[in-house]
Amino acid sequence: MIVSIPTTPYENQKMGTAGIRQKVHVVEQKNYLENFVQSLFNAIGGVKDQVFVLGGDGRYYNDIALQKIIKMAAANGMKKLIIGQNGMLSTPASSHILLKNHADGGLVLSASHNPGGPHGDFGIKYATKSGGQCSSVISARIYEQTKMISSYQMMQTPDIDLSKLGRQMLGNMEIEVIDPIKDYEKLMAQIFDFDAIKKLFASGFRFVFDAMNAVTGPYAVRIFEEVLGAPKGSVLQAVPMPDFGGLHPDPNLVYAKHLVDLMASDEAPDFAAANDGDGDRNMILGRKFFVSPSDSLAILTDHYHDIPGYQNGIFGVAKSAATSTAVCRVAQKLKIDCYEVPTGWKNFCNLMDSNRITFCGEESFGTGSSHIREKDGIWAVLFWLNIIAKTGQSVEQITREFWAKYGRTYYLRFDFDAIDPSTADLLMSDLEKKLSSFVGQSYEGYNVCSAYPFIYKDPVDGLQTKNGLLVYFDGGARICYRLSGTGTNGATLRVYIEAYEKENFDEDPVQKLKTLLLVASQLAQIKERTGKDKPDLTT
Ligand code: G1P
Ligand code: ZN
Repeated sequence: MIVSIPTTPYENQKMGTAGIRQKVHVVEQKNYLENFVQSLFNAIGGVKDQVFVLGGDGRYYNDIALQKIIKMAAANGMKKLIIGQNGMLSTPASSHILLKNHADGGLVLSASHNPGGPHGDFGIKYATKSGGQCSSVISARIYEQTKMISSYQMMQTPDIDLSKLGRQMLGNMEIEVIDPIKDYEKLMAQIFDFDAIKKLFASGFRFVFDAMNAVTGPYAVRIFEEVLGAPKGSVLQAVPMPDFGGLHPDPNLVYAKHLVDLMASDEAPDFAAANDGDGDRNMILGRKFFVSPSDSLAILTDHYHDIPGYQNGIFGVAKSAATSTAVCRVAQKLKIDCYEVPTGWKNFCNLMDSNRITFCGEESFGTGSSHIREKDGIWAVLFWLNIIAKTGQSVEQITREFWAKYGRTYYLRFDFDAIDPSTADLLMSDLEKKLSSFVGQSYEGYNVCSAYPFIYKDPVDGLQTKNGLLVYFDGGARICYRLSGTGTNGATLRVYIEAYEKENFDEDPVQKLKTLLLVASQLAQIKERTGKDKPDLTT
């Protein structure tokens, strides 16, 4: 039976970039999730006769949210829901399944790399039929709906069993529970040289993959261990847990320190990688060696010809403005376009749809290609393994060879967390007003050659976005300032700094960028305004 349940809007049903990301206790409030889902359905003109893909990273509240969404979808006339077994789907797998089935939309229940559990975060990401996250225009429409919602539709029915593969009906809606891995695995086998990687593992290559108790565990066990023959146990923390075992499932030097420590020890295997909560981020490590995500994007691009799936050539590449310029130098050499876009994967999607780019990436441990419309953690790991198998070189050798060819871009991101939002906004707007006055000035020996707000006009839809403030120095150094759009605790100021070196490759990035950090702080008056004399997080 379908019922219409009266509800009232929430004061501020805050939208993230393509859905909601909130503390669990916020989402647990009565009708909070229902309000959002119905608002989404309303904002896109209803979901009658549509096909959607549904799944999540298994975090706390996924089980409850899944059942509510299924019952609401049926009540709203949806034709079919394709759901990962036990409600599990990584973000990249979801994008692939959506595209493969020509579905109308997809919902991924995840707060990505944010912690889970009852005190952690929960989220819903909405993807359109393009396979990528919805545009800010649609987000705005959904938000408008959340402010006027008065009722939602729900099917009154017992919970659906999501453990059994196969089809079942709920009212007039078909539910197909699918193997969440099979199609994704097939796609990876089409892109990469699985035989070469099998040989690599058979030769005794020592590999670990850390799934951080999140969604990629089963994907990694299947692909790396069962299909490619990495020894059993190569996948660490392989069983998804609702609270990620207390981990902050963000694969970087801070939150995956255990892996970094392993790779720094004498027991280090040849290669280590980690993925985030929903499987779209990746970190790559060699023995006593870290590959910065900006370098990783550039190195993969430089090695595209080693990968069967890209043998016919690649279109251009793209990076977020905050990401280092390393990949731009590769693009120049390959004579392909290099686009610079605002932060957020959705900004790459039009470029992929229009065949302007093949590869893209962000400094925040995101790398991907046009095989789907999301960043893809396991894809990036397979890409590295394929290069290693093809070249016979280690992670460090591949990276050093890259630096020798193009120079090294030292790069770090400094985060200043939990700032009062109005203080952060004022800091940015005042800094923006001062930008032009920096040009021609010298700060601690660094001469500013240009400074401007980053404004992007999407070449496909013409949408204009302002995202961050850029300061360039003679010699290729650069500072980028922007406020995070995904935090759930006050405002986070991100300061991204890079410096370019043609010959000197062995400095410690923290030391190398120390003076520029000081300059960044002076220019934006970070200490005076926020009280912080050092960043809370350096990645
Ligand atoms: C962060 C990252 C950004 C990424 C986003 C979603 O956004 O910096 O690159 O696209 O998470 O994973 P931010 O908090 O900086 O707005
Ligand atoms: Zn993620």
